[in-house]
Amino acid sequence: MIISSALDYREAARRRLPPFLFDYIDGGANAEQTLRANVSDLAGVALRQRVLKAVGEIDLSVELFGETLSMPVMLSPVGLTGMFARRGEVQAARAAQAKGVPFIQSTVSVCSIEEVSAAVAKPIWFQLYVLKDRGFMKNVLERAMAVGVTKLVFTVDMPTPGTRYRDAHSGMSGPFGPQRRIVQAMTHPRWAWDVGVRGKPHDLGNISRYLGKATGLADYVGWLGNNFDPSIGWSDLEWIRDFWKGDIIIKGILDGEDAKDAARFGAQGLVVSNHGGRQLDGVPSTAQALPAITEAVGAEMTVLVDGGVRSGLDVIRMLALGAKGVLLGRAPSYALAVDGGAGVETLLDLFAKEMRVAMTLTGVTSVDRIDSSILTRPTGG
Ligand code: GLV
Repeated sequence: MIISSALDYREAARRRLPPFLFDYIDGGANAEQTLRANVSDLAGVALRQRVLKAVGEIDLSVELFGETLSMPVMLSPVGLTGMFARRGEVQAARAAQAKGVPFIQSTVSVCSIEEVSAAVAKPIWFQLYVLKDRGFMKNVLERAMAVGVTKLVFTVDMPTPGTRYRDAHSGMSGPFGPQRRIVQAMTHPRWAWDVGVRGKPHDLGNISRYLGKATGLADYVGWLGNNFDPSIGWSDLEWIRDFWKGDIIIKGILDGEDAKDAARFGAQGLVVSNHGGRQLDGVPSTAQALPAITEAVGAEMTVLVDGGVRSGLDVIRMLALGAKGVLLGRAPSYALAVDGGAGVETLLDLFAKEMRVAMTLTGVTSVDRIDSSILTRPTGG
């Protein structure tokens, strides 16, 4: 199949992956309205075409949190990435670094932070949730610091997992999950050989040692359900701010008041996110929420965004709405599933090319010049 976009990777991933994994990546909460709105509101952000603006060299590079990125994107933390391709986190991290962008590793990854860090030259970024087990949090933060991580992406929009109908239907959760997953693996032999056989162990690399046994998918679902903590507030997190030696980026902000709280808390950055429409269905798209949040805290902290970004053109739209950088979750996950690290590299190349085209046709030569002046309307949605 010919691959010319993230959408092509999505279709190829649908064929390649057992349905429980494709739907896990692709799906959202409840009726998936917010998931769809993320995509459609962004598509509705109209750009202003300019001509004869003497656009020469286009520079996609940016400085974020003291790092130089080749372009303003990073790979979002995605749980179970090591089930999409063999040792998937290692492959994705290598691909990201080869292309000059950060890889953010999820707490609930298959490979441990030690395995991934040993495979790449530069420090990865690390994502952590708010969990009940403070001992685990402290220990995993110490492990992250020991492998050189200085950027902590702290996810706050998952005090409880969202309701994902697709996961129940696909066999990811729900009745006879293990049996259904085995049948799906047997009917997807390329995946079964690459990941099922050669991609072992399928532990949750950061967590199994605390559970005292080898872990599998059932533990993933169980651990996610049992360990999230809805009872805590900002003040309960002060120890993390004091304990962590690097930058803290709060992920999962959709409201201007929460953004101000994140700034007061002392975070260096935030990610405007509704968790890819996977948590509370019915909340606004990130394209809609972003401008007001940038307005509220953009002067004090670095505002990043995710949600609905399926092309380099979408990245430019998000920058025009006020983001300084964009996290990519689904798009690189599809590419990884199809072609491993090479797929992620190709995807990042496609995005870079699309960004260059969009910048040329809106008449801007560097990322820091992108703002609402390249839109026909000041805000999206
Ligand atoms: C985990 O964060 C998920 O969205 O599945």
